[in-house]
Amino acid sequence: MKVTVIGTGYVGLTTGVALAYLGHQVTCIDVDEAKINSLQNGIIPIYEPGLQEIFDLAAKNLHFTSSYPEGLIETDIIFIAVGTPSLSDGSPNMAYVKDAAIKIGQNLGEGFTVIVNKSTVPIGSGNWVEAIIRDAFEARNGHKPQGYFSVSSNPEFLKEGTALSDTLYPDRIVIGSDNRQALDQLTELYSPIIQQDFTPPSFVPRPEKLKSVPLVTTDLASAEMIKYAANAFLSLKISFINEIASISEKVGADIVQIAKGIGLDSRIGPKFLNAGIGWGGSCFGKDTAALVSTAQEYGLKMPIIAASREVNYHLRAKVVEKIMDELKILKGKTIGLLGLAFKPNTDDLRDSPALDIARKLTERGAKVWVHDPIAMERAKKEISDLEIKYASSAEELFDETDAIILVTEWPQYTELPWEQLVSRMRKPFIFDGRNFLDKARLEKAGCKYIGIGK
Ligand code: UGA
Repeated sequence: MKVTVIGTGYVGLTTGVALAYLGHQVTCIDVDEAKINSLQNGIIPIYEPGLQEIFDLAAKNLHFTSSYPEGLIETDIIFIAVGTPSLSDGSPNMAYVKDAAIKIGQNLGEGFTVIVNKSTVPIGSGNWVEAIIRDAFEARNGHKPQGYFSVSSNPEFLKEGTALSDTLYPDRIVIGSDNRQALDQLTELYSPIIQQDFTPPSFVPRPEKLKSVPLVTTDLASAEMIKYAANAFLSLKISFINEIASISEKVGADIVQIAKGIGLDSRIGPKFLNAGIGWGGSCFGKDTAALVSTAQEYGLKMPIIAASREVNYHLRAKVVEKIMDELKILKGKTIGLLGLAFKPNTDDLRDSPALDIARKLTERGAKVWVHDPIAMERAKKEISDLEIKYASSAEELFDETDAIILVTEWPQYTELPWEQLVSRMRKPFIFDGRNFLDKARLEKAGCKYIGIGK
């Protein structure tokens, strides 16, 4: 099938490249010409494991342009996958979605086109996008586009760092549509994933037990709500375990054991129960804020989701309190942060706990040194309001620091020569914000170790 994807962020690009790998003809549009140039030259502008490799395999089915007329000509399915960042009141900024919808309306062809909201958009956006497309089409052509297109919702559940595997082997595919033809076309588009009958790339093997992927078909509003509810629930699960971690610290219980003990209950499940310094990234914060903001429009409060946010963002202040408890005075002290990205295997810094923690430490007069295996280059470009020093290696961070905070659990940090490194610190002290390091080993090396909920 012929597919156009508008927006080449994590979601748009991964979707486009994966569909091209499955044999569809995919054109990706982005208004950012530098990004399009990079993609035309075969270079993926974001860090996402496996994406460059699958891109290379699918290159013959991929086309990139910053021209809407070129990208929208004679296409069967158009995905809108542009950003919807939070506005100051928590509601999502829909300006990019609106622009995309206008351009679609202006360039809509004669045949039937399925338009898909892939961006996370507020409930009711399907109808809103449809109205914008209709108006833009009419303004350009002087007549109504009755029956020429249908807007569906197909929310995305991929996680950064495992985006490819989540796209090729998802837990489910959700399609919200009131139009039979649109539903049939989208089912056909995703057929290789639903049936799991494609040849998996060697570097993203199919999970052994996966035989097929459930397809959930529903109305537009329900599909839109499924996305928000899923992210809100996952954020809640993490905030819940972090709340239990707080009391576990007080009573002398161990949160890792507690997570194992409750996670084995099949009604609860073991995933997303890792206590730490909480969630960040471009999704949980934005989507929970949007849900609270939508509820307000209807005169509703969302106390559970609001609490999930409150618990989460307080964790960042708590880290600094714990460092102060240990060091007493922060002025003139040097603190090293291991990790900057909001999670491992990505260079994404959006709403990253590391940045908040660094900010709070510098506000209290500490000097902050940081290291991240991948995200430092991006941080140098994007973070200008923070006085931080970048270490050239993780090892360097330990020279004359008063405390190290592990913020992002990059697997390579377990390989560090910890005994040797802690001996380089002024007074060895490590705060493990992800319960990731080997406590016994560090203590044996003479280091004071504090984790979360232990
Ligand atoms: C999240 C959802 O997991 C995806 O399903 C969804 O598609 C995506 O948002 C989105 O809406 O686009 P993502 O933000 O990429 O994905 O990454 P996650 O793996 O969910 O991690 C989010 C944050 O939660 C990270 O900061 C991570 O460190 C933290 N986390 C995760 C924990 O603190 N504990 C856990 O047990 C799991």
